[in-house]
Amino acid sequence: MPNESLERTVPIVVAIDGPAGSGKSSVSKAVARRFGFGFLDTGAAYRALAWRVVEGGFDQEDADAVTASLDGFDYSIGTDPDVYFVRVGEIDVTDAIRLPRVTAVVSAIARVPAVRSHLTELFRTIAGSTDRPGMVIEGRDITTVVAPDADVRILLTASEEARMARRSLEISTQSADTVAEQLRSRDRADSQVVDFMSAADGVTTVDSTHLDFEQTVDTVAEVITTRTARTSP
Ligand code: DC
Repeated sequence: MPNESLERTVPIVVAIDGPAGSGKSSVSKAVARRFGFGFLDTGAAYRALAWRVVEGGFDQEDADAVTASLDGFDYSIGTDPDVYFVRVGEIDVTDAIRLPRVTAVVSAIARVPAVRSHLTELFRTIAGSTDRPGMVIEGRDITTVVAPDADVRILLTASEEARMARRSLEISTQSADTVAEQLRSRDRADSQVVDFMSAADGVTTVDSTHLDFEQTVDTVAEVITTRTARTSP
């Protein structure tokens, strides 16, 4: 008789998509911590490449120059939700990749097909090498392109108003109007590449407009529990 109680050896993959300001990074991190899973912030890789383009003097408007910046792009990221870091070579860029001058060019970088296919492979490699029982991967195209076969696929949304209010609380160095305009224009640019506003087939939408942080984490955790019949410790 086959042994029905064999432990699952392949990590559980939780894919979370959503627009900027939906809370997907902080929610994904908290959910990963709750389940003892790893956490992969894919936007950080696009940002790190954008940092390299800016610092290396590559022309961000020239797709060939951006593609050339992938050559020797030595990227590493912490997937432990408690020890987050982003490095390019030996340089710690954890804070630098959030600077407005990097954020301003990241959509142009993310539009280049060679960048998307290179980073998609990188994400699959990082996710596949986790030694944890699962991995939460968040970004814009995770449920549709990077991990369409994930065990759990969630689209985390919030109204534009709520997302702007949250972003503006996070970024105290710029006015609320500037933050709102940047977010709107990044949404516009990013949505030309990936449709992260509507859920693909089989993807569960969690709308956090009227939820606080803890409620959002609880709701996402419930979806994971239901979909995997797994209880959080
Ligand atoms: O989530 P974020 O703001 O850190 O993402 C930075 C940029 O990277 C965002 O403008 C769009 C792009 N991105 C993407 O195209 N695909 C992903 N999986 C993640 C991010």
